[in-house]
Amino acid sequence: MKAWVVQEDLSLQQVELAEPQPGAGQVRVKIQAAAVNKRDYWISVGKYPGIKPGVALGSDGAGVVDMLGEGVSKDWLRKSVVINPNINWGPNPAVQSEDYQILGMPAHGTFAEYVVVDEDRLHLKPDFLLAEEAAALPLSGLTAFRACFFHGQIAEEKKVLVTGFGGGVAHYAFMFARAAGASVSVTSGKPANLEKARQMGATHAFDYREADWITQASMHCSGFDVIVDSAGGKQFNELIRLLKPAGRLVFYGATNGLPDKLDLYRLFWKQITIQGSTMGNDTEFAEMLAFVTDKQIHPLIRRQYPFEQTDLAIKQLSDTSAPGKVVIVF
Ligand SMILES: NC(=O)c1ccc[n+]([C@@H]2O[C@H](COP(=O)([O-])OP(=O)(O)OC[C@H]3O[C@@H](n4cnc5c(N)ncnc54)[C@H](OP(=O)(O)O)[C@@H]3O)[C@@H](O)[C@H]2O)c1
Repeated sequence: MKAWVVQEDLSLQQVELAEPQPGAGQVRVKIQAAAVNKRDYWISVGKYPGIKPGVALGSDGAGVVDMLGEGVSKDWLRKSVVINPNINWGPNPAVQSEDYQILGMPAHGTFAEYVVVDEDRLHLKPDFLLAEEAAALPLSGLTAFRACFFHGQIAEEKKVLVTGFGGGVAHYAFMFARAAGASVSVTSGKPANLEKARQMGATHAFDYREADWITQASMHCSGFDVIVDSAGGKQFNELIRLLKPAGRLVFYGATNGLPDKLDLYRLFWKQITIQGSTMGNDTEFAEMLAFVTDKQIHPLIRRQYPFEQTDLAIKQLSDTSAPGKVVIVF
């Protein structure tokens, strides 16, 4: 089968691999669509822990079950599925175990014609989604879901700010928080993303490239209950300023690096919670799919690439001039 595999020099090459066979308790999925995550990009530039050459990348995939290992329910055969990319989350819903892995390094992932996963990683593809929409959900949707609900406790009438609306995860955080009945504002550095967010019901949309956006946000919004961020960097302290007393700042990434300092005075006086978040547990994955189905949420697809251009799709991931996910179609 064809697969995009990490080489010794960390470049990603399309190579021929033997077709995988499912073992006991496993299934084989013929991939119809996959999606690119920042993780694939970080691996491709050598900035990810535990990189293992020889592995097919790809954490997100949707397709059709075409082979069953011993002991697997026959009901799965020929079913359209979406794959939970968690491996070994472990027993504690609050944090992943030490054995935790994400599909697509070290185990072979979805940038391949076939992938073998344990039966319990399968979920039926929601009928209302196309394969490429379903493939866009797993890693980013799960990350947004946990950040919004487990940690952010976002609910009706909460005032929420989602930074960097154009991002693969952030656009889900925006849609999930809105679907939960919150009033959601966004930031973005791209005019097209700001416009799209307004069209989709953002209460306010601020351009984080403007020097006074924090002042504008303070003036218009009079404090947020929850901020969901993945940019980090210098603006982190400004986000603390924008929170209401007892507000929560949930972050799942640090694309712009570390803040120079942390405003501890403001943090303790306003009784602010700063909460890190990563992916989500298996129960949350099922809940995320149910939520998306209940609210009929369609992922935004920023751009689609054919499987042959997977390397290009990863290289161009940072071009967030339109919001949403980058998807690979087979
Ligand atoms: N912990 C986890 O489990 C987990 C899971 C997924 C991702 N992540 C991490 O989260 C980050 C985002 O991932 P992604 O997949 O959403 O990436 P992405 O699709 O490449 O999006 C990058 C985002 O950065 C935003 N951004 C850049 N500079 C910003 C600034 N100064 N202020 C606010 N936003 C800014 C962009 O916003 P605009 O384009 O709108 O300007 C865009 O939303 C990455 O660092 C990734 O490694 C972590």
